[in-house]
Amino acid sequence: MALKDAFTPLAHIHAGQVAPGPIAIAGWVRTRRGSKKFSFIDLNDGSSPKGIQVIADAVLPNYETDIARLSTGAAVIVKGLLVESPGQGQRFEIQAKDIEVTGFADPETFALQKKEMSFEYLREVAHMRGRTATFSSMFRLRSVVSLAIHRFFEAQGFSYIHAPILTTNDGEGAGETFKVTTLDLNAPPRGKDGKVDFSKDFFGRESMLCVTGQLEAEALAMGLGKVYTFGPTFRAENSNTSRHLAEFWMVEPEMAFWDLDDTMALGEGLIRAVVREVFEKCEGDLEILAQKAEQDARPYLRMALEQPFVRVSYTEAVEVLQKAISGGKTFEYPVSWGGDLKSEHERYLCEVHFKAPTIVYNYPEELKAFYMYLNDDGKTVRAMDCLMPGIGEVIGGSQREDRLDVLERRMRSKGIDSTHLEWYLDLRRFGGVPHAGFGLGFERLLMWISGFGNIRDVIPFPRVPGSCLF
Ligand code: 4AD
Ligand code: MG
Repeated sequence: MALKDAFTPLAHIHAGQVAPGPIAIAGWVRTRRGSKKFSFIDLNDGSSPKGIQVIADAVLPNYETDIARLSTGAAVIVKGLLVESPGQGQRFEIQAKDIEVTGFADPETFALQKKEMSFEYLREVAHMRGRTATFSSMFRLRSVVSLAIHRFFEAQGFSYIHAPILTTNDGEGAGETFKVTTLDLNAPPRGKDGKVDFSKDFFGRESMLCVTGQLEAEALAMGLGKVYTFGPTFRAENSNTSRHLAEFWMVEPEMAFWDLDDTMALGEGLIRAVVREVFEKCEGDLEILAQKAEQDARPYLRMALEQPFVRVSYTEAVEVLQKAISGGKTFEYPVSWGGDLKSEHERYLCEVHFKAPTIVYNYPEELKAFYMYLNDDGKTVRAMDCLMPGIGEVIGGSQREDRLDVLERRMRSKGIDSTHLEWYLDLRRFGGVPHAGFGLGFERLLMWISGFGNIRDVIPFPRVPGSCLF
């Protein structure tokens, strides 16, 4: 038998697919309680939020030498009998006949302890986080949510495309890019003007990591119709907050012959579909996460299934906030038409005022990126942000400016160099169509689903200002 088939996954046992009798399992020790006569080992193999109790009798030949030394994090192969458990809260347990230790984890030096550990500490030992109950649940949830997203788009007839990670355009025009270069940083070639000569660089021009895949998605939507990307995205914003990563994953659908309303409906449908699948497949993981979360997210998840998302224009949203302020509500940041909505404002709107996921649309032109469709009022663009109770902005999207002259004008007024974006303008010059799309921050979505308050705890190896460990 292949080694990979030698052990029964705990998930199969808990799903009732395994009859009592001889069995072999393999996994990591969560805890061991011992007496002179027995050890009770709580074992987990990562296939399920639920572990299994292994009972090891002191008569086993390696009891003193191996089994009694087992501690949190050690790895073992257990052969024995699967039996109905007399104990509370578990259907089965395993009576061990043979325990082989494949790796001890010396508690004196091992990163994980039996006792409660802070999230801050666990981030420093992120290479071991997957061995804890909390983070194995989180990363199983992450996997289920990823696949639910793909399934949703496939069912809607979208093509999954791959936008480049290395690029020569700052797609958001916000200047928060990581530069990519092979030049010698100590002695870069310089032009007559003293500036670094990027024509000598690897790509022959200044290049960077993508801040979005949208522009390339637009190119492919103009031909394939409905496409989406789902990939890593990089932003060098120096905002050391609980909601920002330097490397995060973004889902970006882009649709030809769609408008702003269509896009809002797509975002709502996507979030609902994901929540439905999470409730179906991740009950145990959600339960474990709720115990460690800043807040139990499940009421918010149910809210998203039961309540239609509220749609409100930016102008109305500002009025709601100003009314709240006149009524005595205080915010850290002021509210006035033309100003950015801060996280506290976003959360007030969806958590306190509307008590539902809330999509704010038609933002002031100055606040938003160059590619958004300018409304007839000349002041607002067809942008939309989807705000989720418990977290705030999870989706940002828009109808795109498909009128060449208006787009060129807005690029000029925002100081965007079109030298390397002629191809983007070509999409309007040749066979242009009304189109729209959005970007969903995958980690923001996971924060919302798990109720976790820090984005560093929903991605296995977080990259943030000052920290790129592992
Ligand atoms: O609102 P943003 O900047 O929109 C875009 O990038 C568009 N090009 C998307 C599109 O229309 N195709 O980013 C989209 C989402 C945000 O709503 C947020 O959820 C997430 O990406 N996001 C971040 N998540 C984690 N860390 C960061 N630094 C993030 N910046 C944005
Ligand atoms: Mg945004």
